[in-house]
Amino acid sequence: MRKKSLIVVLLAASLVLFAGCKQGGSDGVKVGISMPTQSLQRWNQDGANMKAQFEKAGYQVDLQYAGDNDIPTQVAQIENMIATDCKVIVIAAVDGSSLTEVLKQAKQKNIPVIAYDRLIMNSDAVSYYATFDNFKVGTIQGEFLRDALKLESTDGPYNVELFTGSPDDNNINFFFGGAMSILQPYIDNGKLVVKSGQTSKAQCATPNWSTEEAQKRMENLITANGYGPTGTKLHAVYSSNDSVAQGITNALIGAGYTKENFPLITGQDCDKTSVKNMLKGQQAMSIFKDTRTLAAQVVKMSDQIIKGQTVDVNDTKTYDNGTGVIPSFLCEPVFATVDNYKKLLIDSGYYTEADLKVD
Ligand code: BGC
Repeated sequence: MRKKSLIVVLLAASLVLFAGCKQGGSDGVKVGISMPTQSLQRWNQDGANMKAQFEKAGYQVDLQYAGDNDIPTQVAQIENMIATDCKVIVIAAVDGSSLTEVLKQAKQKNIPVIAYDRLIMNSDAVSYYATFDNFKVGTIQGEFLRDALKLESTDGPYNVELFTGSPDDNNINFFFGGAMSILQPYIDNGKLVVKSGQTSKAQCATPNWSTEEAQKRMENLITANGYGPTGTKLHAVYSSNDSVAQGITNALIGAGYTKENFPLITGQDCDKTSVKNMLKGQQAMSIFKDTRTLAAQVVKMSDQIIKGQTVDVNDTKTYDNGTGVIPSFLCEPVFATVDNYKKLLIDSGYYTEADLKVD
């Protein structure tokens, strides 16, 4: 080899070595984030918050959205994160039971996986789970209806209908389960009446948490049970989240309800649209899950994993994914209504006044 080309080769080799060393420290290490959809406000915020916080801590981030809840796209994106040597992969699954195969590859390459918000089922490749206390989300929603309808101090009966989310999302077991742990006794003693008779999780599910599907089901319930401002009184609709609540609201507006007689509707996420609906008297409450908190927790846990430190968890008994209990960190959900939204959402810098301007 001529002397000049030897120098070039040596220079190139040292550059590669330098880059390699950089990868070995926490600076520049690559992490993957796989989010389910961009069509719901919360996942955009989750993704953006995590990316910003990882980058602030010196990580390189591969953030991907699985089209609009498309399972094959999510699988392909995770495969790519494994192939390109992400050191931790954070996943909010489209379908909690569809990642078993792809995650075998992560396990083979010793890449830890953190299930984000939704538990990934039937995979021993899941190292940790970070979420909000999902059962508590459900109990807060149920308690809200119990108190707003004064179920303890009045006889009723009150007519309600029940909606939860996607059957492939493990979270609905906790949301719906938590809410029913509060509401079921009142259904049993006749103070709450579900005229449709649809009270099982399967009957109340909303595929893909879709606003349109929820609207269709609510329209059918209105027709079948004669609900309406001048028809059978509908006192409340339990909804597990905001995208579903918005469909219910649309159907009720279509049936002629106004803020003077609007049934109480619960929700979760404090989506801008739903907060505006609260301000318009078309949704009674939502649950605020500050995605900045969850993002910060996941960045912290990833950093601890990568640095070989003890990982911060606060629940080691609740979330079994079929292969055993996954050590979890549960953040606190908070109850939001028109009375405290300013403090929770605006003063905390989550939204601006303009974000929530009702037109
Ligand atoms: C999340 C909710 C969200 C829903 C729909 C659930 O897994 O916990 O915050 O509203 O998915 O995307």
